[in-house]
Amino acid sequence: MTVAVIAFRMAQLSDRVALITGAASGIGRATAQMMVERGANVVMTDLDQARVEAAASELGDAAHALGQDVTDEARWEEVVAAAEQHFGALHILINNAGGGILKGLEETTLQEWRQVQALNSDSVFLGTRAVLPALRRAGTGSIVNLSSVAGLVGDGDLSAYCASKGAVRMFTKAAALYCARNKDAVRINSVHPSFVDTPLVQSMIAQSPDPDRMRRTLERAAPVNRLGRVEEVAEVVCFLASDASSYVNGAEWTVDGGLTAR
Ligand SMILES: NC(=O)c1ccc[n+]([C@@H]2O[C@H](COP(=O)([O-])OP(=O)(O)OC[C@H]3O[C@@H](n4cnc5c(N)ncnc54)[C@H](O)[C@@H]3O)[C@@H](O)[C@H]2O)c1
Repeated sequence: MTVAVIAFRMAQLSDRVALITGAASGIGRATAQMMVERGANVVMTDLDQARVEAAASELGDAAHALGQDVTDEARWEEVVAAAEQHFGALHILINNAGGGILKGLEETTLQEWRQVQALNSDSVFLGTRAVLPALRRAGTGSIVNLSSVAGLVGDGDLSAYCASKGAVRMFTKAAALYCARNKDAVRINSVHPSFVDTPLVQSMIAQSPDPDRMRRTLERAAPVNRLGRVEEVAEVVCFLASDASSYVNGAEWTVDGGLTAR
């Protein structure tokens, strides 16, 4: 009981304001919900404005929805300004929006390659650069970047995705060192899930020639023999966003049921 109470207190996010991209669905949406439950105000953005507005309305006044394409450089400035204006400050950025294509190296066009790098990698650079002045104004900050196990180990069907998520991993470390050198009170870490039961993975399963077999293959990829749940990733994201992780910086956190332990 005592341990449970301490753990609950450690991941509290009272009086913090978080900006979460790709928050209409999956991990982003679950993270927004968990952060609100722990006392934060959240700005939820997504390419799909109608869906993110619906998701935010379920969380009440603690959530504010905005349409955003994370690959659009100019929109980042507007979103950060809107977040500060709406909730008075900004302390946390969760660079979550992302996706990929299930294609072999030789089938991938240059245009597809560039789209995946823009969505997963360019967006993390743009977001980090855009929020830093706001986090400095707030006096404290945490940025959490959604990479993937595909940013740690290779997958022959996911060349563009692996390259983009590997870039997120190393950018995270370089950005953390940049902030530390500048004496900014901003920590930056990456999270590396394996297969989590979200629309992204569900569409990967549905698109495969044998969906049942594909689901079983993905489940067996992790030693725990199942897909991850969005709450299991959101829990780690909330920890890294909160002061409970105050000595964690430039680190990569796997949430993969042991997949990369093999
Ligand atoms: N689900 C997994 O198994 C898994 C595993 C490892 C890493 N990840 C990473 O976690 C993150 C979230 O994944 P998820 O499974 O929750 O995905 P998801 O598909 O459920 O949600 C992604 C959201 O991003 C939004 N989005 C797409 N393009 C966008 C853009 N240009 N601008 C703004 N929003 C955009 C989509 O509308 C969607 O709401 C991604 O970065 C993904 O690569 C997921």
